[in-house]
Amino acid sequence: MTQDEMKKAAAVKALEFIQDGTIVGVGTGSTVNHFIDALAGIKGRIRGAVSSSEESSKRLKGHGIEVFDLNSVDVLDVYIDGADEVTEHLQMIKGGGAALTREKIVAAVAKTFICIVDDSKQVPVLGQFPLPVEVIPMARSYVARELVKLGGDPVYRQGVVTDNGNVILDVHNMDLSAPSEMEDKINALVGVVTNGLFAHRGADILITGSPQRVSVRE
Ligand code: A5P
Repeated sequence: MTQDEMKKAAAVKALEFIQDGTIVGVGTGSTVNHFIDALAGIKGRIRGAVSSSEESSKRLKGHGIEVFDLNSVDVLDVYIDGADEVTEHLQMIKGGGAALTREKIVAAVAKTFICIVDDSKQVPVLGQFPLPVEVIPMARSYVARELVKLGGDPVYRQGVVTDNGNVILDVHNMDLSAPSEMEDKINALVGVVTNGLFAHRGADILITGSPQRVSVRE
């Protein structure tokens, strides 16, 4: 099984968690793209979706799935999204696709966060994957200096502008052994919109595609 086939297997499994007549929270990335394509097969059973990025909205609409503004939605039962890294405590690094802020907002609203990954994303400790931080453009250099003080090596993601009009710093070599504390410290820096640590609001359910099987962990 290829990595992409493992992503697809995890994405298809997530359909089992979708209730009829609901609005589904949808993340961003190559694993979620498989989920969106699978969701199209049951689109008659759902009301529509809330999306975490322009990219996912476009794909959803392309399948004829209605995309709702989050502000018009009172209840969101599930949010389905991938991750760049996930631990056994279901804490994650996200934002490899630069959609972290909207992902964090939709995840905050959802009752249940279902993370779909291939098994390469499972790690004992977060931090091998550089931590994405979304920053207001004029604060980029200031925030980079502050991130160095916190022990990281920030790298400006050249040529990337987020859906919110901001920039991304990818922080290498950061000690993320206490992820909730670091999530708070980085978010407290003036000019940071949010960072890609999903420690306080981790996943509730992890679906992992591996060469042997698809496993579900709650
Ligand atoms: C998007 O900003 C990210 O949070 C993605 O969820 C993450 O990068 C996983 O992407 P893939 O499913 O493409 O690996």
